[in-house]
Amino acid sequence: MKWLIDELKRIKREHLYRKLRILETGQVSRVRVGGRQLLMLSSNNYLGLTEHPLVKMATVDAVKKYGTGSGGSRLVTGTNDLYISLEKTLADFKGVERCLVFSAGYLANIACLTSLMKKGDVILSDSLNHASIIDGCRLSDADVKVYAHRNMEHLRCLLKESTQYRHRLIVTDGLFSMDGDLAPLPEIVELAEDFDALVMVDDAHATGVFGKKRSGTVEYFGMHDKIDIQMGTLSKALGSMGGYVAGREELIEYLINIARSFIFTTALPPAAVGAAIAAINVVQQEDPAKKLWKNVREYTTSLNNGGLSLATNSQIIPILIGETVCSTYGKKAGALIRNEDVTCAVAERLFERGLYVTAIRPPSVPKGKERIRTTLMSTHSRQDVHTAADIILETLGEYGLL
Ligand SMILES: Cc1ncc(COP(=O)(O)O)c(C=O)c1O
Repeated sequence: MKWLIDELKRIKREHLYRKLRILETGQVSRVRVGGRQLLMLSSNNYLGLTEHPLVKMATVDAVKKYGTGSGGSRLVTGTNDLYISLEKTLADFKGVERCLVFSAGYLANIACLTSLMKKGDVILSDSLNHASIIDGCRLSDADVKVYAHRNMEHLRCLLKESTQYRHRLIVTDGLFSMDGDLAPLPEIVELAEDFDALVMVDDAHATGVFGKKRSGTVEYFGMHDKIDIQMGTLSKALGSMGGYVAGREELIEYLINIARSFIFTTALPPAAVGAAIAAINVVQQEDPAKKLWKNVREYTTSLNNGGLSLATNSQIIPILIGETVCSTYGKKAGALIRNEDVTCAVAERLFERGLYVTAIRPPSVPKGKERIRTTLMSTHSRQDVHTAADIILETLGEYGLL
């Protein structure tokens, strides 16, 4: 397959090549790679729950009682009481009538966008929505209109042009996965009411972290009864695997009957289901996000004092390189310095200095928006957070990027 080899060469030439790094530990705050210990600053295990004793115990108990696999699609092989218990726990947590669990968050997004929105309908999607939303839009027979990131004037214009469609659906990440900023849900809901549109929020990154109950951005903004579809994943702060859709009874019944990514795939293994139930209980009883937020404050204050001006206030803190490279270097010695090269070089240097980070490049982010995406965990110590901030500032200084 020569064309694949050529294509890989092109990817390498354009500095977009990705490779897998081998970890000798789980997703802990200090990971080991090639015998070296590094401070983990890339994990979505925001609350450290993959290592929580109660979550681990529930995982083992689930395997002991229900075995290792689910045997097929729930509609065909049956659904055990553990699933029902997770869906009830999630529905209470999210403050909705009912919930449906999928084998991945990716599949939950595909399910909603393809099953609910058909030919003659329109989806209005934020330009920085997650790839699984983009793929759901691509797979849907509905028309898709993309509005500029968090730009309510643009969304209003697109809604104005969309009155001829049968159904309108606005879809947005609650907390944006690469930028760490929040969708303006109150304004989105207001526009949805003005133009008779449904609203879907992907709360993958906010669940367990935002809101008093930590159920996500919908709760944080007090929008329970205004959001038609809440989607999320069990794989980030909840430390397990799988996705879910939360909302009205009829929404869930419809998805069970129509959603191909629910019907035609094997259900989650009991271990993941048991872990997720225990994780939600830990979130409610121990509130590990409290420590996470303390870490966020310490880290962002330290970085801002050191010369960065961070625009976000969440556990996802991107260090933007692409834009800074353009304004700092411009053209040097006649050759344009490539954002991708500098982003990779900074990531490599941080790695050498003991931080586990990765360079985020297109297509994960738009061209020119290359970055080091750093994320915090509640299991980081105060010292960890300050060490990380100091190393980042020193390294950006080395590259003339402060
Ligand atoms: C915003 C967002 N939505 C959905 C997903 C997909 O979830 P999962 O990893 O469970 O498939 C992700 C994960 O990368 C995400 O970041």
